Amino acid sequence: MKILLTGATGYIGRRLKERLLEDKSLQLRLFVRNERKIRDKYRDRVEIFEGSTFDKESLRKALEGIDVAYYLIHSMGTKGDFAKLDRLSAENFLRACIDANVQRIIYLGGLGRKDTASRHLLSRIETGEILSRRPESIQTIWIRAGIIIGSGSASFEIIRNLVQKLPMIITPRWVHTKTQPIGISDVLEYLFQAKDLDTKKNLVVDIGSDQMSFKEMLIRASKVMGLRRVLIPVPLLTPRLSSYWLILMTPVSYRIAKALVEALKSETVIQNDNAKRYFPHISPLSYEDAVKTALGEIEKKQIISRWCDSSAEEVCDIKDQGRIEAAVFVEKSVYDFGKIPSEMIFASIQSIGGENGWFRCDWLWKLRGTVDKLVGGPGLNRGRRDPALLRVGDSLDFWKVIDLKKGKRLLLSSQMKLPGKAWLEFSVEDTALVQTVYFLPQGLWGRLYWYLIKPFHIFIFSDLAKGIIKRAKALSIWTGIDMKL
Ligand SMILES: NC(=O)c1ccc[n+]([C@@H]2O[C@H](COP(=O)([O-])OP(=O)(O)OC[C@H]3O[C@@H](n4cnc5c(N)ncnc54)[C@H](OP(=O)(O)O)[C@@H]3O)[C@@H](O)[C@H]2O)c1
Repeated sequence: MKILLTGATGYIGRRLKERLLEDKSLQLRLFVRNERKIRDKYRDRVEIFEGSTFDKESLRKALEGIDVAYYLIHSMGTKGDFAKLDRLSAENFLRACIDANVQRIIYLGGLGRKDTASRHLLSRIETGEILSRRPESIQTIWIRAGIIIGSGSASFEIIRNLVQKLPMIITPRWVHTKTQPIGISDVLEYLFQAKDLDTKKNLVVDIGSDQMSFKEMLIRASKVMGLRRVLIPVPLLTPRLSSYWLILMTPVSYRIAKALVEALKSETVIQNDNAKRYFPHISPLSYEDAVKTALGEIEKKQIISRWCDSSAEEVCDIKDQGRIEAAVFVEKSVYDFGKIPSEMIFASIQSIGGENGWFRCDWLWKLRGTVDKLVGGPGLNRGRRDPALLRVGDSLDFWKVIDLKKGKRLLLSSQMKLPGKAWLEFSVEDTALVQTVYFLPQGLWGRLYWYLIKPFHIFIFSDLAKGIIKRAKALSIWTGIDMKL
C-alpha cells in the first residue's frame, strides 16, 4: 500500500508518521511545506514531496501512484479568512485525489454538531463535507475527535498548567459543558487502522473515551498528579476574559485559547457508534490513563510533537524567515573556545533556552518574556520540546529554529512582539564561537527600539556566549572527552 501523509510536520502528522513506519509493508510518502522540517534519520525510509494544497501542481506530483491519502491540514491562524482557505485547500485536495485515482481519503476533523459549532469547528466540518462530496469517485473516512490528551497538545498543556500552577482555579460557566476527550495513542490507532477498513462507503467515525465536563477534566487530572485543587466558579468570566486568563496562566497563544473556549461553549460529544462498529478492537484508554501517559512522556522528555511547532499561522511558517541579509543592524561577536571540542560547543549551543535557561542574565530574558506575553507575544512559556536537541521548525521560548546545520550553525528567528524582525545566529568556525544578532527595524520606532535595548545586549549576549562555552567545558568533563588542555 502506498500512502501519502499530508500535515506530516504537524502535531498529529509527526506521530502518525512514526506509527505508519512501524508497518514495514507500507510505502510512505510525506507531503510537507518545507522539507527541512523532516529530520535526516527519516530520509531513507520515506519519500518527501514539498508543496502546498494551494499549489495544484505540487499536489498532482505528490499523489501519483498513491492508494490512501491522509488529510491532516488546516488553515487556522492565517491572517486572512481561514474558513475560505480551508475550503479551497480541501477542494484542491479532493480534485487531485480523484484525478490521481486514489482509493481512499482519511481525514481527522473535530467533534461536535454543526448547529452549535464554533467558527473553527464549522470550518473543520465543511472540510469533511467537501472531502466526502464525491463518494462515487473516491471514498472518505472522516474521523472526528474532540479534546486530544497527549504530551505537547494544546488542550493538555492548558489542563496541566492550570492544575500544576494554581491551588485555586477560578472557573467560568463554559467549564460545565460536556465533552469527550481521547488519548493521542487511540487517535493514532483509529487513523492507522482506517486505511485497512473493509468497506467501500463513506464513513463518519466519532471517537472519544468517557464523557465529562472541562471541570471534571481538571479535577480528575489533579488527582492523577496527586494535587488537591479547589475550583471556584466565577459566572462573570466572559469567553474573552477567560481567553486572556488562559494565556496568562498557560503557554498557549490567544488564538488557541479563544478557539478552545469557543469550542467548549457547546457540547462536543460522540454522535454515532461507528467507532465501536468498525473498530471493535480499539478500546480507548480512560481519561486518567491518557493523562498518565502524557505526563510520563513529558517526564521522560519524549515529546514527539507540540502544538506550537506547526500551523498555518504566519509565525510558524519558516519559509522566507531566514533572510538575515535584509537586516539593517548587525552585532557580531567572536569568542575563542580554545581546546574544548567543537562538538561540545555545538551541543551547548543546541541546549540554550527553555528549562535550561539563558545563563547569567536569565532574569532579563524572563522579564522580556513577561513583557512579550503581556503584549500578546508567545513569551518564554513555550520552552523547548527536548532538553538537548533541536530540529528545524521547533519553537524555542520566543524564537523559532530556522536553520540547523549539525556542528556548524543554528539560526533562530524572533517570534516575540517587536517593531521589526530579529535573528540570533550561532556558528562554529575552527576554535571560534561566532554569535551574531541581526535586526531589521520597522519604521522609526523600530530604530529607536534598537538603540534603547542596545546597552542591555552587552550583558545578555556576551554572557550568553560565555555561558555556552562554560557549559561546553563542563559537558566535555562529564562525558570524559579529552580536551587536551
Ligand atoms: N491537535 C488536536 O488537538 C486536534 C484535535 C482534534 C482534531 N484535530 C484535527 O487534526 C488535524 C491535524 O491537526 P494538527 O493539530 O496536527 O495541526 P498542526 O499541528 O497545526 O499541523 C498542521 C499541518 O498542516 C500543514 N499545513 C498547513 N497548511 C498547509 C497547506 N496549505 N499545504 C500543506 N500543508 C499544510 C502544516 O505544515 P507546517 O509544519 O509547514 O506548518 C502542518 O504540518 C486537523 O484537521 C485538526 O482539526 C486536531
